[in-house]
Amino acid sequence: MKKVGKIMLLGKRNFLVDSGKQINTEFGLIDLTKVKKYGQVVRTTTGEKFIAAEPTIKDLLSKCKRIPQIVTAKDAAQILAVTGLQAGWNCLDLGGGSGFLTIFLANYAQPGSVVTYEKDKKNAENIGNNVKFCDLKNVTVKNKPAEKFTEKDLDIITTDYVNAEKNVKKFFAALKPGGWLVMYSPQIEQHQKSRKEINKMNFDYVKTIETVQREWKVDPRGFTHPIHTQLVHTGFMTFARKKM
Ligand SMILES: C[S@@+](CC[C@H](N)C(=O)[O-])C[C@H]1O[C@@H](n2cnc3c(N)ncnc32)[C@H](O)[C@@H]1O
Repeated sequence: MKKVGKIMLLGKRNFLVDSGKQINTEFGLIDLTKVKKYGQVVRTTTGEKFIAAEPTIKDLLSKCKRIPQIVTAKDAAQILAVTGLQAGWNCLDLGGGSGFLTIFLANYAQPGSVVTYEKDKKNAENIGNNVKFCDLKNVTVKNKPAEKFTEKDLDIITTDYVNAEKNVKKFFAALKPGGWLVMYSPQIEQHQKSRKEINKMNFDYVKTIETVQREWKVDPRGFTHPIHTQLVHTGFMTFARKKM
């Protein structure tokens, strides 16, 4: 049986909590020392029911501290969908920021690993804290400029920093044949520059995409429509796969 660590309490409201504690909520006191396995039902002192679920990486990331703007789930998910990233991959994430993409990749690459470079000390420390909070052991955070990376034989390199296009030749050399380069930027101008550099190297499957996700309000009375205000633009991604 899986040892109970952090718990995602699902009920009238959701709480991410540590096992072995008691917490006060607007529904009464919840005694988590009684949770012996995930999936168990727990009741508050007023009788309100909660399920003690195992947190997913999405639950954990929702509580991580953000400093710079993150790569959102809809874009991170495209990286898995397009590249087929899988268990055992060696990944390099340049411009670690808040560590959201690093953590997302590390979760799916286990027992492979992710090395991330972040030049800002405060951001690098925050990435380390977020990785610890998500209980991942396969991440190395380097508080250094991305341009100085030394990793080789990589399955994937992801970039999210200004001027990343200037390093495309080095990215090509560090990838395994068949490895993927994924360059993220909110500005299309950076992708135009990246595509120019990518075209000089022996890459295949070169594509620049934007993923648009619209949530809909589904009303039982029949007034169903897209939610009026929501996040429209996050960023573009350029994908390229190394040939030989
Ligand atoms: C937009 S954030 C990245 C967000 C990250 N992808 C995430 O999901 O949390 C860009 C980060 O790149 C860092 N950065 C900018 N230039 C860099 C460089 N040359 N080397 C390393 N980090 C750099 C910035 O300090 C910033 O933290």
